[in-house]
Amino acid sequence: MGEILVTTRDGGTRSVAIRPGLSLMETIRDAGIDEMMALCGGCLSCATCHVFVDAAGYDSFPPMTDDENDLLDSSDHRRETSRLSCQLVLDEGCDGLSVTIAPED
Ligand code: FES
Repeated sequence: MGEILVTTRDGGTRSVAIRPGLSLMETIRDAGIDEMMALCGGCLSCATCHVFVDAAGYDSFPPMTDDENDLLDSSDHRRETSRLSCQLVLDEGCDGLSVTIAPED
C-alpha cells in the first residue's frame, strides 16, 4: 500500500497510508492529524483544508476549479502549489506524495 508524507504545522512529519478513493483531507483527518479544521467537510466552502503540495506531485492532480481558486484567494498564505485537500482524491499513484498543512488563516 502506498503512503504519503504529511508535514504538520510544527514541522513534524507523518507517513500516512493511502486509501484509494478518499480525499487528501479525509486521509489526513482519519490518520488522527487534527490541526486542519476542514470545517465544511469537503463541500468546498471553507478553505480550512489548505495544503501545499510538493512541486513534483502538484501536476499529478486535475487542475483546480474556479471555485477552489476563489477560495484559495481568501488565504493570506497562498502559494504556487496551494490546493484545498478536500478536492484531491488519492490513488495508489500518489505513493510518495509530500504535502504540508498550510498555516491557519
Ligand atoms: S474542507 Fe472546506 S473547502 Fe475543503
